[in-house]
Amino acid sequence: MSLTSFGLSARLSKLRAQSRIRALSPIEFSSSTQIRASGKDYLNFSSNDYLGLAADSRVAKSYIEGVNRFGSGSGASALVTGRSQAHSELEAALADHLGVEAVLLFGSGFLANLGVISALADAQTQVYSDALNHASIIDALKLSRAERHIYAHKSIDALEHQLLESKSKGNTVPRLIVSDHVFSMDGDKANVAGLRRLADAHDSALMIDDAHGFALPYEAKSSDCDVYVATLGKSLGLSGAFVAGSNDLIEFLVNHARTAIYSTALAPAIAHAAIRALKIIKERELGQKLLANIDYFKNQAIEYGLDLLPSDTAIQPMLLGSDEASLSAMQALKDKGLWVTAIRPPTVAEGTSRLRIVFSAAHSESQIDCLLAGLRSLKNN
Ligand SMILES: Cc1ncc(COP(=O)(O)O)c(C=O)c1O
Repeated sequence: MSLTSFGLSARLSKLRAQSRIRALSPIEFSSSTQIRASGKDYLNFSSNDYLGLAADSRVAKSYIEGVNRFGSGSGASALVTGRSQAHSELEAALADHLGVEAVLLFGSGFLANLGVISALADAQTQVYSDALNHASIIDALKLSRAERHIYAHKSIDALEHQLLESKSKGNTVPRLIVSDHVFSMDGDKANVAGLRRLADAHDSALMIDDAHGFALPYEAKSSDCDVYVATLGKSLGLSGAFVAGSNDLIEFLVNHARTAIYSTALAPAIAHAAIRALKIIKERELGQKLLANIDYFKNQAIEYGLDLLPSDTAIQPMLLGSDEASLSAMQALKDKGLWVTAIRPPTVAEGTSRLRIVFSAAHSESQIDCLLAGLRSLKNN
C-alpha cells in the first residue's frame, strides 16, 4: 500500500501554482514582539499573544513551579487519572472571573468547539452560524450532523429572517446560535447583545467563542451566553482552552464531550501558570497598554491613509485582494525586518487576501512606528 492513489504531489503542485502553498517557517526564537529566523531578527506583528504573557517571567516561573509540583504531563484524560488540584483551581478562577457557575478545561480551543457542539447538537438540532466563524466551529457543525443555517456575517437581520422562516414551518427542534465574538481574520466584533435578544425571542441557546476577546478589555459578557468558549493560548500566552456556563452544561460535557473524555488532559503545569497569568491580567495594566497601542496605530494609519478593515481590536487587517499582492507585501515587509503574515484563501474568502496585523501590549511606540513606516512604503510602491 502507498499513498500514490491520493495524488499528493499533484495536489501540492496545484497549490504552488496558485500561490496557495503553506510552509512551516523554522524560527530560533519568538515572543509577542520579536521573531528570530535564520539568524535575522524581525519585529513580530502576527502573534495572538496579545498581552505578551508567553514570555512573561512571572508566568514562566509558575510554569516551572507547576512542572516541579505536578510533573510535565497529565498522563491521561481527566476522567481516567483525575483532575489535578491545578486544573480545579484554574476552573474555579475562570468561573469567578467570568461570573459563571462552572468551567471545563480542554486541550485546545479547536477541541473545545468540536467537543461542545458535537455534544449539544445532533441531526435533530438546528445550528445558526455566522459565515465567518472559525474553522473549528465549521468542522464541529459537520461532525455534529446538525441542520446548518449559515447567516451573512454579523447580520442580525439575516439571522432573524432564518429563525422566523424555521418558526413558520412549525419547527420546534432545539436551536443553537453560534458566533465568534472577535472574528479572527477580520478583527471585528459580533453584536453579542443583539444575538442574545434573538436567541431569547426564538427559543434558541447562544454560544460565543471569545478566543480573541477573553481576558482583554473587550471581553464578551458571559451573562449574554449560554455557552462561553475561550482559549488559554492567546491573551494568557499559554495553550489549552475551556467552556464556561451552568453546572448542568459542564456536567453534561463531562459525560458527552468526546474531545475532553477521550483526550489527554491539559498539562497541570499549564493550568498552574494560567492561574498566575489570570492574576496578572486582573491588574488591568496590560489590557490598557494594548488599547493604547491599538489607538496609537489606528490614529497614525488613518493619517497616512492606510487601507484597514474596520476593527477596534488588536487584529487590524489590511486588505490587499490577490494572493500575489499579499505575498509580495509580506516579503517586502520581511525585507525591512517586519514579520506580518499574509492570510490567503481558504482561510479567507477568494479575492480578500490580506496582511493580518496584530498588536500586543508588549509593543513599544517606536516598534509601531517601524511598522507604520513599512506599511507606508508598501503604499508608495
Ligand atoms: C475564534 C477561534 N476559536 C478557536 C480557536 C482555536 O483555539 P486553539 O488555538 O486553542 O486551538 C481559534 C484559534 O485561532 C480561534 O481563532
